[in-house]
Amino acid sequence: MDDPDIELYDNVDEIIGQMTNDIKIGQLHQSGSYEELEKQLLRCGEIGSLLNFCGADAVSGIQNTIIESISKIPLLIGDDVIHGYSTGFPIPLAESCSFDLELIEGSAAIAGREASSQGVNLIFAPMVDIARDPRWGRVAEGAGEDPYYGALVAGARVRGFQRKNSRGYPQTASCPKHFVGYGASEGGRDYDYTEISDLTLRNTYLPPFIAAIEAGALAMMSSFNDVSGSPASLCSDLLNDVLRTELGFDGMVVSDWESVQQGKAHGVAADDSDAALLGIKAGVDMDMHSGIYRQHIQALIDSGKLTRKDLDRSVKRILQTKMRLGLFDGVEWNAPQPSVYYSEDSGSVLRAPHHIAAAREIAVRSIVLLKNEGGLLPLPKSIRSLAVIGSLAVSRQDPLGCWQCKTDSSNVVTILEGISQKTGTAVQIVYAKGCDAAECNEEDMAEAVRAAGQCEAAVVVLGETCYMSGENNSRAFLDLPVSQRELLRRILEVNRRTVLVLMNGRPLTLAWEDRHVDAIVEGWQLGDESGNAIADILFGDRNPSGKLTISFPRSVGQIPVYYNHRNSGRPELIRYIDEETSPLYPFGYGLSYSSFQYSDLELSSVVMGRDDTITVSVIVANTSDVAGEETVQLYIGDLVSSVTRPVRELKAFAKKLILPGEQVRIVFNITESMLRFYRHDKKLASEPGMFRIYVGTDSRAALCKEFELV
Ligand code: GLC
Repeated sequence: MDDPDIELYDNVDEIIGQMTNDIKIGQLHQSGSYEELEKQLLRCGEIGSLLNFCGADAVSGIQNTIIESISKIPLLIGDDVIHGYSTGFPIPLAESCSFDLELIEGSAAIAGREASSQGVNLIFAPMVDIARDPRWGRVAEGAGEDPYYGALVAGARVRGFQRKNSRGYPQTASCPKHFVGYGASEGGRDYDYTEISDLTLRNTYLPPFIAAIEAGALAMMSSFNDVSGSPASLCSDLLNDVLRTELGFDGMVVSDWESVQQGKAHGVAADDSDAALLGIKAGVDMDMHSGIYRQHIQALIDSGKLTRKDLDRSVKRILQTKMRLGLFDGVEWNAPQPSVYYSEDSGSVLRAPHHIAAAREIAVRSIVLLKNEGGLLPLPKSIRSLAVIGSLAVSRQDPLGCWQCKTDSSNVVTILEGISQKTGTAVQIVYAKGCDAAECNEEDMAEAVRAAGQCEAAVVVLGETCYMSGENNSRAFLDLPVSQRELLRRILEVNRRTVLVLMNGRPLTLAWEDRHVDAIVEGWQLGDESGNAIADILFGDRNPSGKLTISFPRSVGQIPVYYNHRNSGRPELIRYIDEETSPLYPFGYGLSYSSFQYSDLELSSVVMGRDDTITVSVIVANTSDVAGEETVQLYIGDLVSSVTRPVRELKAFAKKLILPGEQVRIVFNITESMLRFYRHDKKLASEPGMFRIYVGTDSRAALCKEFELV
């Protein structure tokens, strides 16, 4: 099918011309409830969208009701399909550590397919907020601290969610969020103030949104936060000028939950009517749940504060979104049509075997090996006894993470189950709770210590429950809970062959653990296949290949700590008198059961004209006897420019399987466009001068060469 947009656009104005004001205003209203009011609005055709509503039959009934109403305008059915719909996938932060964009896109495609089979056609994802403060619980939903990589992941997820369905339309509309700068909330406190300069806005927070727009995102969600004095959901500069004019976004903008109405709490709107006026003027087309558009827009038009043109502009964007989804496909204006909203037999789609297999694969590749002293891992399959300790090891809820959508915890393979299934009867597995996520009692602790002391090795699963990260779950302390650390300490006293497996939704401060534990596995919250993925890694059926996309601080006092920081004027003096300045585990870090050696970094030229390409090559050798994947990372530092620049920025990476003893030459191409950045004049441009290229296994890469852009 050729581009469906073309033939659908030309009748949207005709449709708007047929609509009453009540029906137009109804399009701007999205409700998170489905009560008598919404049913009434539905029958009158005066509602544009429902969210958190699901079920193929229910949606079909809803849509057919609206088709039989006077408006005949199908609804957008929205849902937070953040990491899986029915098949539970790893939290997005975990998936981002796979450095496998194909798998990440595939994960979103499966989630979108399952959601659309249930009538969902608007997905409030991907969350693309760059975040450098792990106290903020929503780091779990994103792709970490790097704008370049965050942009690649944003594009992949939008493409996945918007994969074409059997009718040639996007299976769902992706709605990247939260525009903009939400991850910069002061103190890591969700919803709090964000101080963001124009330069930081463009160089740090916009790149993932730009990539999402380039990937064709049909919608966008405005955010809760106040951006340097302007609440994002009521700010015309951000929404009309930056998002639409500067970035060219032509889709619809939906607010976050009542975020337009919150203009009153922000202190920029005197009342609901004032907030509604500011919101729609700013470019928020659809009001999520508050109802202030539905209640006040007509009066605002009557009073002349709002024009019909203002109203029609938002109505048009919403109708175009629905048209781009094919919701009007086959809907004749004067006759109700059978549902065209989902073609799949939902029974065959939800948790299809290949969906479950995909969830396991990306879970395995999202696991990051943080420490492996003395080769404790992988555990030998000849081991005769193994203690598995911790309430998280048997939890079905916590591996599903912070947005569980329509997953079912009964489908989760726990870590204990994964290990038991892997080892069969050959190994005596002894489980002991040891402690809950937050507290413990002496009896449980003693039982766990006994179990660890009686077994050849121990796997201790510690970290966070799924309710300790995600929205409005900010933390001021990131250590393991005291009870968990005490349990670990006492286990280490009786068995040094102890593996710490972390189940968490954010970086934790693990300095003590790093000093005392020989093997540490970052297991995140990996979804349905958690147990199988962790067992695959623990017993060496798979070689860990994940790399961190967010720095792990040594202590909360370092935050924010991230790799692409500025050099400052006195870099040699920057320090704490009571802490290191470097993070415990940096961006790009992750170990393998293999060992890799980098050498022979070569540039094809040390001078680059604006139209030239410099080829960068490096030899990576696998010096171990285990095949493994290495994510080779290339960073570039701009040594002199009109604004202070990060000491280095990720500009390319290649994840490569390297066989034992093999040496591979990895080649990257550098072009002028990779050197561009936003300057004080808000222009995206490169500047002539010296640049330094670093290539290595993480953001501390030392192998480097310089070249000059002329
Ligand atoms: C929430 C979140 C947003 C989500 C929306 C709908 O408050 O901020 O990410 O999509 O409401 O549930």
